[in-house]
Amino acid sequence: MIEKFINKVILGDCLDVLEKIPNDSVHLIVTSPPYNLNIQYENHSDELEYSDYLKWMSEVWKKCNEVLVRGGRLCINIGENKRQNISYPTYSAFIQSCVELNMLYRGTIIWNKNSAAKHTAWGSWNSPSNPHIVPRHEYIIIFSKGDYKLLGKKENCDLKPEEFMEYTRSVWSFGTESKTKIGHPAPFPLELPKRLIKFYSYKEQIVLDPFAGSGTVGIAASLLERNYILIDNSEEYCKLAEKRINDKNGMNLFNVSNKKDFIDSSAEIQILNN
Ligand SMILES: C[S@@+](CC[C@H](N)C(=O)[O-])C[C@H]1O[C@@H](n2cnc3c(N)ncnc32)[C@H](O)[C@@H]1O
Repeated sequence: MIEKFINKVILGDCLDVLEKIPNDSVHLIVTSPPYNLNIQYENHSDELEYSDYLKWMSEVWKKCNEVLVRGGRLCINIGENKRQNISYPTYSAFIQSCVELNMLYRGTIIWNKNSAAKHTAWGSWNSPSNPHIVPRHEYIIIFSKGDYKLLGKKENCDLKPEEFMEYTRSVWSFGTESKTKIGHPAPFPLELPKRLIKFYSYKEQIVLDPFAGSGTVGIAASLLERNYILIDNSEEYCKLAEKRINDKNGMNLFNVSNKKDFIDSSAEIQILNN
């Protein structure tokens, strides 16, 4: 039953698609949802009432929890959500919502975006009257379902000791991805899913992204010999994800030259049938 979802880019609403995926079948979820910061997505209004947004997100985390195997992990990338100088505690709300689902909180990684961008949004310049914090980081919050330990074949662990050392540190530093280069309004860099997939899953396991966008999680999974399931409600982004996976875009980031090492997982789009 899970086979029909494997290595597919699925066009549909993530709640509908997650409903159809068998429970207890996915090993790892890596995702970055819409941040509710009025980003112009093709098929989503990114400007919900904050309470509606959190309610919707909680429903998604509930479905994510259901499809995970025991010991499976949920990794959510979310920013320090700031809009017009109002900060929204989205990061802590997501933690609260997953803890209420009885998911096991494993911790938070701070992604230091190495931002060199100039900014002028200091608030009250050089005065304590109302200075603003300008975020240069995002969060990756991590949960397990039911058990901290994930079962997998020892020979399917591909972590190198230096990677393990690096990934266990709570601050990860690497740059962002270019929207223009990728052709999507909010792609994350390949390095982000690459690290999470290597750190939190074994080769041949199933990695899912319910908000797949340009398909970065699928590219990383495919290059790392995992299976992927990608969902997005935009046909344009599904086509982009399919193309990027089939081109194996970003291969250089992995410094790998031997193509035969990669899992054979060419992408095709599947439209969710009701
Ligand atoms: C932050 S972007 C993800 C970007 C992705 N990590 C990448 O590297 O390209 C969020 C994505 O969620 C998608 N989306 C919004 N609402 C959705 C829904 N209800 N179901 C599925 N996808 C949705 C948007 O189309 C957008 O591509």
